[in-house]
Amino acid sequence: MDKIQITGGRKLEGEVSISGAKNAALPLIASSILIEGTCRFNNVPDLMDIKSIKLLLEDLGVTCHSEGRYLEVDGSHIHKIEAEYDLVRKMRASILVLGPLVARFGHAKVSLPGGCAIGARPVNMHLTGLEALGAKISIEHGFIEAKADRLIGNEIYFDTPTVTGTENLLMATVLAKGKSVLRNAAREPEVVCLANALIKMGAKIEGAGTAMIKIEGVDKLHPCDINIIPDRIETGTFMVAAAATGGNILVKDCIPENIGGVINKLKAAGAEMDIFEDSIRVKGKESIKSVDIKTLPYPGFPTDMQAQFMALMSIADGNCVIHESIFENRFMHANELLRMGADISISQGNYAMVKGVEKLQAAPVMASDLRASASLVIAGLIAQGTTVISRVYHMDRGYEFIEKKFAALGADIARIK
Ligand code: EPZ
Repeated sequence: MDKIQITGGRKLEGEVSISGAKNAALPLIASSILIEGTCRFNNVPDLMDIKSIKLLLEDLGVTCHSEGRYLEVDGSHIHKIEAEYDLVRKMRASILVLGPLVARFGHAKVSLPGGCAIGARPVNMHLTGLEALGAKISIEHGFIEAKADRLIGNEIYFDTPTVTGTENLLMATVLAKGKSVLRNAAREPEVVCLANALIKMGAKIEGAGTAMIKIEGVDKLHPCDINIIPDRIETGTFMVAAAATGGNILVKDCIPENIGGVINKLKAAGAEMDIFEDSIRVKGKESIKSVDIKTLPYPGFPTDMQAQFMALMSIADGNCVIHESIFENRFMHANELLRMGADISISQGNYAMVKGVEKLQAAPVMASDLRASASLVIAGLIAQGTTVISRVYHMDRGYEFIEKKFAALGADIARIK
């Protein structure tokens, strides 16, 4: 298995271009199930998770043809409505095929996505929402089976905002008969990107990006060309890395307003930022101030940036509290940072008290999940000595060529087989 080796102490300098967003591409590619015809996607990131969802769709009979960051997906010849366990277990976001399959074919069998390192991650709200639309749901032998002659529009309340839950039910309601309303819906930019694509395909949707989304079902959607938005979490990751190393970088091809929660907290930590229309210049300072954060649904501070920010706070001047309010087990990176000399104590499972230390020391560490791996890269960039990160396959799921991008910014980083 590959490892990443980093010798710390270099300031990041230069420019980095942000790739397409994994969490926008996944629902968008799944939405092609709704359509008889070929959808064309631009700015698709080259990631393991994208390969996984293409394999899953091809198993259903969808044809995928990709050239670099361009992807064509044709849902005309789908002959199967069952998403196999072997394919689903590789990526939880496979649940995103459930809504479109039921909406278009009235039947779907999708393996229950197991939990993952960061939490149990149930899909109850996805299923309750489909039941509200008239689907009959059964769960047997680890499979979800959903059946409906035709989905009927209805009001759906989410107990808490769920990103893929909102996306699944958006894709289900656009072909349901009549009107639907999604309340307490997720407001993430990736949800808005999906809604805009569905509208381009002929769906009738209002209010995407707010907590109340109104949909009027249509009989059929038509193919279209879709541009995938830049990855706001990759954007935030490079911004935090620049602040941590005291560097000066220009993050290009991004959407600053989508990462406002991180800009706000980096400002409070003392980083200097110039915000442009599609880029952000970040200048780190010698000293970093400790800043409390609480992860929240968008537009709050994103949970997917919590691990990266903890690495920054581990060398800040002072103490801070990091409250992870979205997932129940998203502090595994803390154990690895402790091995690098950080001073972190976890209480009640989702509060981390981080006391800033002078320096981190390099150490062999292990990635546990996608964003934890990014946290360890940032820690390696600022630690004294050479850090080796194992299990970097976690990182390859969500970051395109991350070691090449950091090396181009002057980091002493390389992938070792
Ligand atoms: C999406 O996951 C993202 N994944 C995650 O990114 C991200 O961390 C998460 O949203 C929160 O922003 C994709 O978009 C593919 P949720 P999702 O449903 O949709 C609970 C990454 O690093 N919940 O918004 O699965 C759930 O347990 C990944 O790229 C239920 O209880 O997250 C969690 O506590 C990691 N029942 C909270 O809601 C449900 O039916 C929010 O989860 C659904 C969710």
